[in-house]
Amino acid sequence: MTQTITVIRGDGIGPEIMDATLHVLDALQTGLEYEFADAGVVALEKTGELLPEATMDSIRRNRVALKSPLTTPIGGGFSSINVELRKRFDLYANVRPAVSFPNTKSRFSSGVDILTVRENTEGAYLAEGQTVSEDGETATSMIRVTRHGSERIARYAFELARSTGRKKVTAVHKANIIKSTSGLFLKTAREVAAQYPDIAFEEMIVDNACMQLVMRPEQFDVIVTTNLFGDIISDLCAGLIGGLGLIPGANIGTDAAIFEAVHGTAPDIAGQGKANPCALLLGAAQMLDHLGMCEKAERLRAAIVATLEARDSLTGDLGGDGTTMGFAKAIAGRV
Ligand code: NAI
Repeated sequence: MTQTITVIRGDGIGPEIMDATLHVLDALQTGLEYEFADAGVVALEKTGELLPEATMDSIRRNRVALKSPLTTPIGGGFSSINVELRKRFDLYANVRPAVSFPNTKSRFSSGVDILTVRENTEGAYLAEGQTVSEDGETATSMIRVTRHGSERIARYAFELARSTGRKKVTAVHKANIIKSTSGLFLKTAREVAAQYPDIAFEEMIVDNACMQLVMRPEQFDVIVTTNLFGDIISDLCAGLIGGLGLIPGANIGTDAAIFEAVHGTAPDIAGQGKANPCALLLGAAQMLDHLGMCEKAERLRAAIVATLEARDSLTGDLGGDGTTMGFAKAIAGRV
């Protein structure tokens, strides 16, 4: 049976990197059918809604979406479309691989291979209980962590480690100070770890983890952590290997999964053909793995590496002067 995926072309550089990505997927002959759906500013202009019901229905039906970055306009009704999508589909696991690539302008062009598994639905990003006192002097915000949320993200991290042949999971926390929320996360992660004796388990306080990541990133394998720490740590990892243009993100739930680039809409370079398509291409590779097309996913990653090695048509962020589609064509020629 043909697999259909929902494709959201997005805002800013979104359409350019999506066209480039679909060009490479077509060269890979994945056999995927694309159902295009709108979200973000494009959808707002067409339908008056940032997240039209037709788009939600499409994701519900296909259960897999490939999504370009979206703009959440200020005063748009919810704090972020991306957070809203994760909430509505209960996409509890955010998986961000940071891998060294050749010929990037980075501190570590080898030795980094870290999977950050970030809890995606609770913690400090709930954006609930936010108040500022009348005199403007005191602000509060609520953090909620549940055993259920911690248990399923820790289990996801260990299962992922097992299925991908990884050896160690590091739980990153701040339980020494934030004893309630971070404490519950750590306690639950320890309980889950005990059920996976074949995978090494390590605990690290978040500030130390940041220093260790910069000094000796090769010691990390899989990192599992709460929402806010995961967002920061995965960007730190992006910085280690050459920036946001090389990091994809998978948002995984029980009933749906959305694959994307970690970066935003890059309004400063939108419409100029300058955007690096690799992050979304790597998101597409995560999607192919999720769909069981692991051999095609590997071919796609290998083609990206080979194109970087050859310095063929690289975009400006990678030190080249190629265009988004030119780079994609160079990759497509190597799949
Ligand atoms: P950004 O990631 O869009 O841009 C940061 C810097 O990185 C800019 O200089 C940009 O030119 C560069 N950059 C980003 N992607 C690139 C690529 N593929 N190739 C080459 N250079 C690239 O972050 P910013 O400026 O904070 O956010 C802009 C907009 O994006 C905001 O409206 C924000 O809400 C939205 N956003 C959406 C996300 C999503 O849909 N997943 C994630 C992050 C931000």
